[in-house]
Formats: sequence, structure tokens, C-alpha cells
Amino acid sequence: MQAVILAAGKGTRMKSARAKVLHPVLGVPLVEHVLRAVQPLRPDPLILVVGHQADEVEAAFSGRGLAFARQDPPLGTGHALLAARERFAGHDRTLLVVNGDVPLLRTETLDALLEAHRSARAAATLLTAVLDEPGAYGRVVREPKGALRAVVEARDATPGELGVREINAGIYAFEVPPLLEALGELRPQTAQGELYLTDVVRLLRAAGRPVAAVVAADPREALGVNTVSELGEAARLLRRRRNEAVMAAGASLEDPDTIQVGLDVTVEADATVLPFTILEGKTTVATGARIGPYARLVDTTVGAGAQVLDHCLLRECVVEAGASVGPFAHIRPESHIGPRAKVGNFVEIKKTRLGEGSKAPHLSYIGDATVGPAVNIGAGTITCNYDGTAKHPTRIEAGAFIGSDTTLVAPVTVGAGAYVAAGSAITEDVPAGALALGRARQVIKEGWAEARRKAAAGTEQGRKR
Ligand code: UD1
Ligand code: CA
Repeated sequence: MQAVILAAGKGTRMKSARAKVLHPVLGVPLVEHVLRAVQPLRPDPLILVVGHQADEVEAAFSGRGLAFARQDPPLGTGHALLAARERFAGHDRTLLVVNGDVPLLRTETLDALLEAHRSARAAATLLTAVLDEPGAYGRVVREPKGALRAVVEARDATPGELGVREINAGIYAFEVPPLLEALGELRPQTAQGELYLTDVVRLLRAAGRPVAAVVAADPREALGVNTVSELGEAARLLRRRRNEAVMAAGASLEDPDTIQVGLDVTVEADATVLPFTILEGKTTVATGARIGPYARLVDTTVGAGAQVLDHCLLRECVVEAGASVGPFAHIRPESHIGPRAKVGNFVEIKKTRLGEGSKAPHLSYIGDATVGPAVNIGAGTITCNYDGTAKHPTRIEAGAFIGSDTTLVAPVTVGAGAYVAAGSAITEDVPAGALALGRARQVIKEGWAEARRKAAAGTEQGRKR
């Protein structure tokens, strides 16, 4: 088969400057969900009709093996399919046509549609749904005996037709030759000159062609997103569906209605995700790990048994098995937290490797650093990695101990097993096994406090006299 996804519309009802099909839902653009439903059917070609913000939409889907057709200006769904005519008309294969704004559509449903289309030997087969509130959807109008007669848009419907609860989902299978004939007969239906794809149904029936319909088992699959509110509803339903799949595979989601797991995220069996946690991009969470509550992980790999505690943000990093991060930690890209290492509260880590079992438990900034195993980094330690122009590296070798409130002025190396005294500003390399003191020596003035009090009292008496 071959397929066309219609994604050229402006999405006026979204009241947004961004093209409707690019609005994110569960971390990916709206039309990406449609693409993922269609792609497993291996359509050739798979055509995306773009128009409004065409460059942006094409850029978002380049390198995915799609063919693009441009519709400019967008003059309705029939006009959109005509814009792709050159690309599909040369093949006899069945043509699947899908609106770009139906993110809940599943591959299984498309399979059922194509199967029904084949067995009915129909010229066209529609996916329909029966809704309690058919709202603005096109109504499926049938003959008294049940055969399809037409799809009537809500705005053009008679009161009787508006009462029909069976709606057109905007998902169709067509045989190409009769489709091309019908498309050629489309006439504008609005003052703007819009061509309705849905008129094809009436035209095919008038030409005596068989048109079939499949009623979606789950009417939610027909949800078409036209407004921001419907986008929110779609996001809620997709999140729930995704979470059900994650839980079915054995992961624990505590209060799943508050948890978001992206489409390309892996959560292994016996991993636990706590409330209000968001897992995005290509994040993977291994078995036994615990994440959250209130954590956000983007493109992050979490090893077995590791924990990411409350209120952490992690991006493009690796947390090895048994490590602990947070609460309130920020791990930035290209960071690698070694096995059983610990990053504590109010610690920011950037482009840093923290070796096995090493610890930075409190209030630190560690950037552009390579930290060996079994290192202790005291509270308040800062790597001064930036000189205003360039970034410089810090090396802390195995077993070193960095006292609290140390500033490490990079580039600098602290050798294996060395000690850095608390409060030091380290500007020169510290050899392995040495102690570095980089602070002013403490001065003691015995009896100074009492002398000061006496002197103060003397002045006071003088004044009273
Ligand atoms: C359409 C159907 C309606 C159906 C509903 C299902 C028509 C005339 N009506 O209405 O029967 O119940 O979908 O959700 O088809 N598009 C283009 N170019 C255009 C206009 C639209 O590519 O010129 C694309 C849009 O980007 C969108 C899809 O086609 O992805 C549907 O367009 P939309 O305007 O949302 O149609 P509806 O009014 O929802
Ligand atoms: Ca729509």
C-alpha cells in the first residue's frame, strides 16, 4: 500500500503561531504520533502533505524516508490530497489517507481498516466512530438500509444530520483510479474555495462505486485535535495509554496520572517511578532503580538499583548502577556518575566523570572535571572552570579528599590520595599523597576579646562622667 498524511492545514482554531501538527504531545509533535501509527505498515511511498510552515514541518521530519508534497495555499483536505496526486497516482496500490491531527490512532486499527477495505472490494473505506457528543465532526449519513451515502460536515448539516452520532474519523483507504476520478469532480464548498475530501464519498456513491465503513472499536482513537484544549485531552489519553504499557511490562508507577513517560523511554521491570516525574527522550531506567518524586530526566541512562531522589533535573547523562543523585541535584549533559557514586543536594554537575564510589554530597559545582574513584568532595566545593573566555579541566585522582569550601581553579590536578584543606583556593597542581593548604594562616590574639570589652566600658564611664 501507499499512504498520505495531511499536515498542511493552518490549525486556525489552535490560535497559535506554531503549525498545529508541530505542537508537542507526550514529547513529540502531534503528527509524529500519526506517523508512528502508519509507518509499521511500510507504505511506499509515505507522503506528508505540508503547507502552513512547510519548511519547519519538513525540517522536523527530514531523514525519515518520507516524500513531501506541498499544498500552497491550504484550500481544504480534498485540495491537500490533490497536492500529493503526482506522487501516488502512478501506482495501483491501495492508498491510505490519514488526517495529521489524530494522535490516538493505532496501527492495529489501520490494519482492520485495510482488511475491511480488501474484503469489501470497496473503492473507498472510512474509519468512523460513534460518539455521545459528535460536536464539529463530519457526520456519516447512511441510506435506510445502512449503506453509506455521504459525509456531511457539521457546518453544512441539517438539524437531522447533526443528530447522527456516527462521525468520520478522517482516516480512509482508497483505490486509486476511482479516487482520481472523484477528486477531479470536487467543487469548492466554502467562500474560501475549500475542497472537501469528504465529498469524495458522495461522488463515488453517485458513480455507483462501493464505499464501506469500519466503526472504530475505541472511539477515542478518532479524537481529532483542533484546539489547545483537545490537545490537552489527547495528551492525557496518550500518557495514560503509555503508562499502561509501561506497567504491563512490570515497572511500578506510583500515581500514574501524574507521571509522564515518553514514547522512546524504557523503564525496566521492577524499576519504580514516583509521582510527578517526567521521563523524556531516550531515557532508560534499569531494574531496581527508583526515580522521583518530582524528577525530570531527559536522554538519561539510569543503572540498576540507582536512585534519583526528589526534585532533580538530569539531561544527557549516565547514572551507573547503585549510584544516588539528589535531592535537588542538576546533572547536565556529558556527565557520567560512576557505580555507587553519590551526588547530593544542591549539587550541579556538568561534563564531568565521577568515579566509582566517589561523593559530592552537598552544595557544589563540578564542571569539566574527571574525578577518579573513592574521592570525597566536601561541601561547597567549586571548580572554577571558566576564565571568561575558555573552559578548563579539573582532574581529581583516586582517593583524594577535597575539604569543604574549596575552589579548584582550573586547569588543575589533585593527585591520587592527596588532601586539600578546607577553605583552600587551589591554583597549582597538588602532587599525589600531599596536603595542600591554599588559605591565609589563622591568627590568634589571646585575651583580645576581654581587652576590647574593657576598653569599651572605659569609654562609656568617661562619657557618663
Ligand atoms: C475533517 C473532516 C471531517 C472529520 C474530521 C475528523 C473534511 C472536510 N472534514 O474535519 O469530516 O470528521 O476531519 O477529525 O475533511 N489539512 C491540510 N490542508 C488543508 C486543510 C487541512 O493538509 O487545506 C490537514 C490538516 O493539517 C489536518 C487535516 O487535514 O491534519 C484535517 O484538517 P482539519 O481542518 O482539522 O479538518 P476538520 O475540520 O477537523
Ligand atoms: Ca481536525
